[in-house]
Amino acid sequence: MRQKRQKARLPARAGMAAWAGMALCLPLLVSPALADPAAVARGEKVVEEWCRDCHVREGQKLTADMAPPYSAIVAIDGRDRAWFEAFLEADHFPMTTFRLFDHEKADVVEWLLDLQKKTK
Ligand code: HEC
Repeated sequence: MRQKRQKARLPARAGMAAWAGMALCLPLLVSPALADPAAVARGEKVVEEWCRDCHVREGQKLTADMAPPYSAIVAIDGRDRAWFEAFLEADHFPMTTFRLFDHEKADVVEWLLDLQKKTK
């Protein structure tokens, strides 16, 4: 019984430390990048080149063989920098042939966050 209780307490403490760490890092990571219009513009170019075969433009009709517009994607709760970064790192069916360089991924994230700011 005693042991069980002690074990249960550990993850909670680790979680607190992680949150404290994130709270310290987040403002440093986020603020300068958000204000970079050049990155946003580069991200838009990448999206135009690689993503528009499937993703409809905002306001365009969504058909069965097309993917949702980015305005809908960024409007979903929880779509923050971390989510987009993780998404772009992962292989995502049906985007099987989609391979971006790291700097392109970073620019696309800036573009998505900028779109989110404009549409929310
Ligand atoms: C071959 C077609 C195709 C291409 C090319 C493509 N996508 Fe997609 N994408 C889809 C489909 C279909 C979905 C919706 C289904 C899903 O969420 O799995 C989607 C969904 C997404 C989502 C939202 C996923 C979610 O869970 O809501 C993001 C973000 C995204 N795509 C980003 C991109 C970016 C960035 C590019 C270009 C670098 C790209 N896609 C290129 C087909 C494509």
